Parts: sequence; structure tokens; C-alpha cells
Amino acid sequence: MTVDPTAGPEPVAPPPADDGVPAREATAVEHVTENVTLDALPGHDLDQHELRRLVAAVARRPELWQRHVAFSDDERHYVSLHRDAHVDLWVLCWTPLNDTGWHDHDISSGAVAVVRGTLVEHNLAVGKPSVATAVDAGKVFGFGPEHIHRLTGKEPGSVSIHAYSPPLWRMGQYAVTGNGVLKRVSLSYADELRPLDDAEASAAG
Ligand SMILES: [Fe+2]
Repeated sequence: MTVDPTAGPEPVAPPPADDGVPAREATAVEHVTENVTLDALPGHDLDQHELRRLVAAVARRPELWQRHVAFSDDERHYVSLHRDAHVDLWVLCWTPLNDTGWHDHDISSGAVAVVRGTLVEHNLAVGKPSVATAVDAGKVFGFGPEHIHRLTGKEPGSVSIHAYSPPLWRMGQYAVTGNGVLKRVSLSYADELRPLDDAEASAAG
């Protein structure tokens, strides 16, 4: 390659703005490199980019999850597909009445691939209305342990694949009281996430 010594430095694209809404950065599953799969896990804790590759790879293989698909308006239906020392993997099924409530994932990073229907990711903002971003089937996004969100089903029959690393153990479930005070309750990963108070659930919907 010939280098022009008079040329200035290569223009560098600015990094994407970190606006705290990873669902806005959701990418197409088919554009995600498939080099992290259930058959080829890296043997260490995965970062959010590796987790995105894993859920995208699993999304492309419905034989791994479609037999577990079932729906309930009363209790979200979810099934563990895999759990080891470094990562856990789930299939989650959504109706428009299913709602995780506000929560964090303690020290885990995570990734979500929507494989059927549409989910809505809500991001809690202080002093402003929460942000809602629809994520359609075929899209994948990831987040770090700093992320706080709430997921709801938008369409009947929505399905998503989720992975977390290190595997979920504790999570924080949040309630926003009527005067805006935020409270956190520590949950086990075996507990079902759900809104802690109906007032906030209707406010954020
Ligand atoms: Fe979550």
C-alpha cells in the first residue's frame, strides 16, 4: 500500500453516544458473528459482545428452544437452556401482560435476541419519563452490569433468548413509590421478576 506522507491522520469515527439505551443499538442477528456457540463456549466469563454472539447463534437454531415455547398472562414462561460456571442461557415467552418490573442483574452482563414478535425495553430515567424502545424479532442487543431495565411483551406470542455472564445469582428488583422514591429488593435468580407495585407498572406502561 502506498502511503501519502502529506496526508493527514485517518479520520476517526466518533464512538457511538452512550445514552444508556442499548436497545437503540440493537443489530440484526444475521449480522452478528457466530463464533460463540453452545458447542464452542470460551471457558471464561463472557462480556456483553460475546453474549450477543451466543444469543444470536442460539436464535438461529430453533431446535434448541422452540419445544419450550408456551405462554401465560399470569406468570411469565421461561426455561433454562444451559447453565455452567460462566454463563446461563434462557428462553423467555411473552404476552402483552408480561412485565419484569424494573431490575438489575447484579454483577452480570447480558444479551437478548428477540426471535418472535416484539419486546419493549424500558429504561428508568430520573426526573424524566422512562424511555421505551421496541425491539423486533431478528434483533439482538447487549448490556453491562450497570444496566437497569424493564422488559415487557408488546405482541402476543413473543419469544426471546437471553444469556448472562457470570450466571445470574442475585438480582435487584426496584419499586418506585408514589412520590418518586426508588427502593431496591434483592432477589434470587430463581424468583420471578415482576413489578413490585402496580402504580409504577401503569405509569411506565
Ligand atoms: Fe433483565
